[in-house]
Amino acid sequence: MEASELQQIYDDAVFRALEARTLGELRVVESETLGKRSPLSALHQRLGSLAPDERRDAGRTLNETRARIEGIFARRLGELEVEERRRQLNDERLDLTEVLRGPERGHLHLVTQTRDALEDVFVGMGFGVAEGPEVETDWYNFEALNIPPAHPARSLWDTLYLKWGEPESTLLRTHTSPVQIRVMQSQGPPIYSVMPGRCYRQETSDARHLAVFHQIEGLVVDHGITFGHLAGTIEAFTNAYFGAKIHSRLRPSYYPFTEPSADFEVGCIFCDGAGCRVCSHTGWIELGGCGMVHPNVFGAVGIDAEEWTGFAFGFGIDRLAMIRHDFDDLRYLLTNDVRFLRQF
Ligand code: PHE
Repeated sequence: MEASELQQIYDDAVFRALEARTLGELRVVESETLGKRSPLSALHQRLGSLAPDERRDAGRTLNETRARIEGIFARRLGELEVEERRRQLNDERLDLTEVLRGPERGHLHLVTQTRDALEDVFVGMGFGVAEGPEVETDWYNFEALNIPPAHPARSLWDTLYLKWGEPESTLLRTHTSPVQIRVMQSQGPPIYSVMPGRCYRQETSDARHLAVFHQIEGLVVDHGITFGHLAGTIEAFTNAYFGAKIHSRLRPSYYPFTEPSADFEVGCIFCDGAGCRVCSHTGWIELGGCGMVHPNVFGAVGIDAEEWTGFAFGFGIDRLAMIRHDFDDLRYLLTNDVRFLRQF
């Protein structure tokens, strides 16, 4: 038996053990190197044909080599077991990075942002902010605002009634004006208040109307309040919200709860009054209604109209957002398409 033959077997075993990448591969190599059909076992069988002296030496060398090879396999087995375990852990690892990154952060809806901005402007002018219920009684929404039952002016508001109490006694408020009544009842003059909130009208939605929309109401009641204060307040708001370049104007109009009444308009922010698509080539964009508080309204809440005077105004928040951000359909605000909402 040649020493080189044994060396060859040993070297082969070392090489192939290192080559084995998995426990399965190592098992194959091991049985091919040490098993019954291996060259090493063949050498073992040849021992029988040797002379006794020779057989002892050759047998010892053979057994030593086998032991060294077994040692090599044992070490490689240990290494592969560690690797295998690591690979398994890696495969089974839960990828938590998604959770760590957290849900995408949203932001306030454009209508809320607009309401907040409006509140800021009026708070900056010394107004307080008040709110009232969306479900109202006929008295707050109409009667106390100088709109008696069956008054023709009721047709100005297409009202959604609730099945609650007497027929048509309970409704979804059609404007924020009933909050004027509540503020006057609860605090009395002097009053400097804005009242934002959601309103409802029985209306088929289109590009310029929503059945559910938002208004902001303003109310001032004090000694010696005049129409000039109203016009000045509207102008100050216009400058604060749209910038000093943009001015406002009032045009005679009619509301049952104000006398005199007016509609107010702001100069078109897109064409600086020159006339364009947005302002229908008039140079002005209509925003809302306003006027001096009607004595009958003061009467309904027990404020002495001989002592106090006041003005009120109201306009649509959604419409203001549409004008300011130049989109052409109010319904975008309600469809919850994030591609639209993300822009603001
Ligand atoms: N409430 C009126 C509307 O909804 C607006 C308005 C408010 C008019 C206050 C005058 C004074 O159209």
